[in-house]
Amino acid sequence: MKQSDIAMVGLAVMGKNLALNMESKGYTVTVYNRPHPDRPSVVEHFINGRGKGKNFLGTESIPELVNSLSRPRKIMMMIKAGQPVDDVIEELLPYLSPEDVIIDGGNSDFHDTERRVREVESKGLYYIGTGVSGGELGALHGPSIMPGGSPEAWSLVRNVFQAIAVRLEDGSPCCEWIGRGGAGHFVKTVHNGIEYGDMQLIAESYALLKNWMGLNNEEMAAVFAEWNKGELNSYLIDIASQILRFKEEDGNYLLGKIRDVAGQKGTGKWAVATALDEDDPLTLITEAVYARMLSALYQERKLASDLYENAITLRNEFDKDELRQALYAAKIILYTQGFSLMQRASKRYGWDLDLGTIAKIWRNGCIIRSIFLQRITAAFREHPELENLLFDDFFFRKIQSSLAAWRKVVSEAIRGGVAIPAMSSGISYFDGLRTLSSPANLIQAQRDYFGAHTYERIDREPGVFFHTDWTGVGGDTTSGTYSV
Ligand code: 6PG
Repeated sequence: MKQSDIAMVGLAVMGKNLALNMESKGYTVTVYNRPHPDRPSVVEHFINGRGKGKNFLGTESIPELVNSLSRPRKIMMMIKAGQPVDDVIEELLPYLSPEDVIIDGGNSDFHDTERRVREVESKGLYYIGTGVSGGELGALHGPSIMPGGSPEAWSLVRNVFQAIAVRLEDGSPCCEWIGRGGAGHFVKTVHNGIEYGDMQLIAESYALLKNWMGLNNEEMAAVFAEWNKGELNSYLIDIASQILRFKEEDGNYLLGKIRDVAGQKGTGKWAVATALDEDDPLTLITEAVYARMLSALYQERKLASDLYENAITLRNEFDKDELRQALYAAKIILYTQGFSLMQRASKRYGWDLDLGTIAKIWRNGCIIRSIFLQRITAAFREHPELENLLFDDFFFRKIQSSLAAWRKVVSEAIRGGVAIPAMSSGISYFDGLRTLSSPANLIQAQRDYFGAHTYERIDREPGVFFHTDWTGVGGDTTSGTYSV
């Protein structure tokens, strides 16, 4: 019997579509979904449905799955992150042989992936944790893929991964090796954080177009469609326009009927938590995560909106192009922060991330795909050690030219009572970064005043700490500096 090239464990939306994508590229794929005693077989349903007449092999047990594969075996899991991944690995291990590869394509926490790579490698096998982005259609027609883990496994999965990944205009696949350990899942986590930031910025622009400028759905859709023709061209701007135009069968717009409470599955929070671990100011994405949390406080929002009905002051006009420029400038900050986080984590974990290549494989297939990413690749190709995207010539010029509009939109939105947490945190990050003489000296002084936490002096070498007895009644014992 012909052995399969690869197996897919988990036939939910992403698993099913990735398996179909692989088969369409000439691979024979074994499929498996954990059987449930009270439900009809998912595998059977797939084999007799979308998989019918194609090169799939349906299996109902782990030994059957393992035996169906040519060696070294490649087994990809597209299942819920967390414990289920550990469970399947544990089930698989007794049946596998050295050099077989277990692949996790779900949105796993990269710390888990680091651990799993070590555990699986210690058994003589290989492990890959890979980001897969693009949703249902991306999975079927070509996602962006971010694999990391055991480097030896890359040559074993490269062909199939690059065959199913989407391609750029020059034919190169949006899938390259990211790095050791949890690097692939970490990069996917940053991707998702950027996705949160991008969506929040677009939502804030929508709020301004709607509540500030008073545009109707068609007019707003036209604005986003127009923006999508220029430097803001991206998947998320494009679908915003389509969503605004979408009507239900009764002829009414659907968007206005959708409850304004945003859900989240956790990857945005992970990006923020990692930034906290790395002492990295990921402010815009953090605000985007908090904005979703605030949207969920529906009862409190209702009370506050009654209580503070008249909290809006003067309004001055800004135009649509100024809003476009503000959105673009904030987007630069979003990516600046996301890439800074990757740079810091790369150093800490020894991943040696190639930031230009990461921007390149995000250019198509994934949720944050946009024309803008070309500029990021160019910036890192020109200066691989670039510390901050804001130091790149192109982004410098862009920020300079949009600054006046960005400041105007942010200040007018605040005066007009339209919440713009991401856009405004972006500008505060920018102003914080360009302020050479910041007020943090006062924070240091206060820490030393009340807790003898010590401070450094600008008229002495950095790294030498001083304490002052501010009140004349304090002692000379100081509290050491440490990170919690
Ligand atoms: C992708 C997406 C996807 C993510 C969803 C939901 O790249 O295809 O990032 O992986 O899971 O967008 O995320 P939330 O439910 O947290 O919004």
